Amino acid sequence: MINNITVLGSGVMGHGIAQNYALAGYAVHLYDLKSSYLEKAMKLIDGNLSLMVKEKIIVPADKEKALERIITTTDLQIAVKDSDFITEAVPEVIEIKHSLYKQLETIIRQDTIIASNTSTFPISQLTKDIKDPERFIVTHFFNPAQLVPLVEIVKGRDTSNQVVETTLNLMKDIGKSPVVLNKDIPGFIANRLQAALVREAFHLMEMGIASPEDIDLAITDGPGVRWAFSGPLETADFGGLDIWKSVVENLAPELSKADKVPDLINEKVKNGGLGAKTGEGIYKYSNEIIEGKLVQRDERLVKLNKIKHGDI
Ligand SMILES: NC(=O)c1ccc[n+]([C@@H]2O[C@H](COP(=O)([O-])OP(=O)(O)OC[C@H]3O[C@@H](n4cnc5c(N)ncnc54)[C@H](O)[C@@H]3O)[C@@H](O)[C@H]2O)c1
Repeated sequence: MINNITVLGSGVMGHGIAQNYALAGYAVHLYDLKSSYLEKAMKLIDGNLSLMVKEKIIVPADKEKALERIITTTDLQIAVKDSDFITEAVPEVIEIKHSLYKQLETIIRQDTIIASNTSTFPISQLTKDIKDPERFIVTHFFNPAQLVPLVEIVKGRDTSNQVVETTLNLMKDIGKSPVVLNKDIPGFIANRLQAALVREAFHLMEMGIASPEDIDLAITDGPGVRWAFSGPLETADFGGLDIWKSVVENLAPELSKADKVPDLINEKVKNGGLGAKTGEGIYKYSNEIIEGKLVQRDERLVKLNKIKHGDI
């Protein structure tokens, strides 16, 4: 039975994941290396919950209770000693993850489940030196973790069925839409599908087929509108598999099969054009534009979730 949950790392993903657990009624310890990181995380959670109050998804008392359920700490022992379930959301650096797991082994209970939020590492690599790999699993949340429903659950070769079942039930209990992968493959499901699309988007841009704005619009006002409700396989069924047979036959030879990053992107990265975080990537951004887009993203995702739940 899960009562106490720990989230290790309070960054981009960790703070939103902690919020999910607290709002669902779990007692949460949120751990990071510095108090200032934890203060920033709690401010973000406060703002996220205020948006949910504003949109009437929760009442102000729910917000206060959720905030009270989160204890922040920079002491790993305090964070994990009573934990039933740990979500690890520290940086995607294998040495950092391995060293943290080594420390955990000496202080956590025998039955504590460890779930990594890794985006790229196969479980076999994460658990290489772990004594009890049967308690180890991946729960891959999506950014912003407090608003995107999907969680990909990946079991390792040694993960016990009990751990898979407990994790699946926990994700459902916090209102997420979990999917379980039968095999541990790089990129899981959603990032593979995204990467296939982004590869083609870069390819179209490189060939000068349309402006970046129009390539983006072709998705946001095209298939993207539908995808929140009908996945690619169901879309194929409704279009007709005979039609999709022809689409794939005719188009597959035309699509990018690149197995390396296009020069255009390499060049931008080399020159420091990393996107929003440096103010310029494919597009240019001021700080105000970035801030405005993030606020708008969250507000719209809250509304989209209401539609998906049939609330409006
Ligand atoms: N950012 C995304 O969109 C995204 C999406 C899905 C999954 N992920 C995965 O989630 C994990 C976390 O990513 P993020 O984007 O939140 O990173 P982040 O850098 O924003 O946050 C990581 C946090 O972990 C803390 N940290 C560093 N070392 C630590 C340690 N030894 N113990 C505890 N905390 C430590 C850092 O201080 C930081 O606050 C990564 O595995 C990443 O691949 C990220």
